[in-house]
Amino acid sequence: MNIDWNNLGFEYMDTKCHVKYTYKDGQWNDGELVEDPHLNLHIGATSLHYGQACFEGLKAFKGKDGQVRIFRPDENAKRMITSARRTLMAEVPEELFVEAVKRAVTENADYIPPYESGGALYIRPLLIGSGPRIGIQPADEYTFIVLVIPVGNYYKGGLKPVDAVIIDGYDRCAPGGTGDVKVAGNYAASLEPGKIAKDKGFPINLYLDAREHKYIDEFGTSNFIAIQGEKYITPDSRTVLPSITNKSLMTIAEDMGMTVERRAVEFSEVSNFEAVGACGTAVVLTPVDKIYHGESVTEIGDGTVHPKLMELYNQMTSIQRGNAEDKHNWCVTVNA
Ligand SMILES: Cc1ncc(COP(=O)(O)O)c(C=O)c1O
Repeated sequence: MNIDWNNLGFEYMDTKCHVKYTYKDGQWNDGELVEDPHLNLHIGATSLHYGQACFEGLKAFKGKDGQVRIFRPDENAKRMITSARRTLMAEVPEELFVEAVKRAVTENADYIPPYESGGALYIRPLLIGSGPRIGIQPADEYTFIVLVIPVGNYYKGGLKPVDAVIIDGYDRCAPGGTGDVKVAGNYAASLEPGKIAKDKGFPINLYLDAREHKYIDEFGTSNFIAIQGEKYITPDSRTVLPSITNKSLMTIAEDMGMTVERRAVEFSEVSNFEAVGACGTAVVLTPVDKIYHGESVTEIGDGTVHPKLMELYNQMTSIQRGNAEDKHNWCVTVNA
């Protein structure tokens, strides 16, 4: 094992093992540790044909005190249950999910980046229909996997603002679709607009509501938040993935004395905001300086990182890394 902890990105790499559980005859087995990163999958598996597949993303952090903290795994467990229900997959009970995550982290303790590197162990739980069907029906066998990957600190030199773009002609999801759950198909549909945005030089793209293209939904892989005075504003929409980072930042914002407004947010309001951010597990918070849409450009703020975004980011990462009091009991510590 030879890992350059200070130069890790966000790329797949093999670790020691993953944990794998199987659901058969109406129940989950006790799970096993598997070293081979390949899966022996039935050619008729519903995940391959009909998209019975969902996943989660969360992180474990090594603290200065040597403790390993997993950030809010119970929330990811609950969200995976909503994804399973929407796609008629076997649900992974919350206790089993959290146990599986702890097992994967403990077994791969050597892959958790050291505190000083600023990195983390990214945890990827995956639930797929592994039983065969040819008619369009749910499978009767499911596989639940938790794999882990060491990842780097995206913000070594401080928060880096980005410009975002709206790609016309592409919606993230339909009004009654699957936008509020984390199913694989959502991401297949996002690949093409994501590539168009990147080819134009934008690291992230923003989606408006599919019905009217008037309200803000979210960015490709992160929620939209805005700051206006003492207000933390975020869209309340049925077609947005309920981000655990956003949920946590809302609590932190209230702890900071801010008022949280969850409401429909019109795109036309953006120019009034003091700051806009994209939030998610991968980087916590990315300030957004400008949003391009067709020929128009909406500028936000004064080109510096808004102090409230900075404080939200600092509070969140301090809790995750064990440098601030975890007063809401978000972190689950493991002996690793
Ligand atoms: C579409 C989408 N929105 C938002 C998020 C952020 O969610 P979280 O904060 O739980 O990582 C993600 C990433 O998981 C995502 O894929």
